[in-house]
Amino acid sequence: MQEKQVTKAIFPVAGLGTRFLPATKASPKEMLPIVDKPLIQYVVEEAVKAGITELVFVTSSSKRAIEDHFDTNYELEQRLQQQGKTELLEMVQNIVPKGVDCIYVRQPQALGLGHAVLCARQVIGEHPFAVLLADDLIDASVSCLEQMMTCYHETHASVIAVQEIAKADSEKYGVIDVAKNWSGQGPINAIVEKPKPTEAPSQYGVVGRYLLTPEIFHHLAKLPPGRGGEIQLTDAIARLLNEQKVMALAFDGTRYDCGSKLGYMQAMITLGLKHPELGADFKHYLQNLIF
Ligand code: G1P
Repeated sequence: MQEKQVTKAIFPVAGLGTRFLPATKASPKEMLPIVDKPLIQYVVEEAVKAGITELVFVTSSSKRAIEDHFDTNYELEQRLQQQGKTELLEMVQNIVPKGVDCIYVRQPQALGLGHAVLCARQVIGEHPFAVLLADDLIDASVSCLEQMMTCYHETHASVIAVQEIAKADSEKYGVIDVAKNWSGQGPINAIVEKPKPTEAPSQYGVVGRYLLTPEIFHHLAKLPPGRGGEIQLTDAIARLLNEQKVMALAFDGTRYDCGSKLGYMQAMITLGLKHPELGADFKHYLQNLIF
């Protein structure tokens, strides 16, 4: 198979964020900040660093703040310029680096992750593409998507990111079936969306990073509703497996489930401690608080 560069990424951001109410009643969950950056900016930065130049947001009517965040704010920029705040000005002007385009597609109804990905089909065309879920913040020295790109270039197959999960948590994840002696990277045998712990084929759960070949769209277009009555990306991957190899990668790094309150707080503390300006003071504060 001829290798194609992966330059397009889908960010499904139409979801309602009910796990984070009331904070997400009027604001998109993807705009919740970790220290000083919204969650969506972390995944966009991860994508851009991995070579993505077309950012495709699958959005809905209540998510306009995301479009505004990645757009120019003339009034703010003019003020910062007048006040001589050049560092801040450069920061807001480079949220989307030069050469990177944002494209917005609407998901008219919340019919599931698979449906959201299908909404971007016309924009993606016959190219391999990435899917990144902003809820999953991954702290890693080499980003999760870059690790997946390496795997994609070695295998030319779709790659999904996985991590070891507690058996009791299998109903929160897509769960893969892999060979008994699986070493953390290799083809999967099967994948199932949110199985009961007794039916989970392994303890490897899918996290929100996918690199997919365009053939996935053929399956998404024909899928009946699956788990929870939604069109599931996991079900389309299961069908893709009948015709193509699909790789799983247990990436190096820590994933925070920022769609949950606890995961969000853990991410805030870890990244707060690593923050170049605030980290030392924050550490000092926490030490005094605990001991
Ligand atoms: C989605 C996917 C699931 C995956 C998870 C990762 O579920 O359907 O397979 O494991 O993302 O975060 P959601 O968390 O949107 O219910």
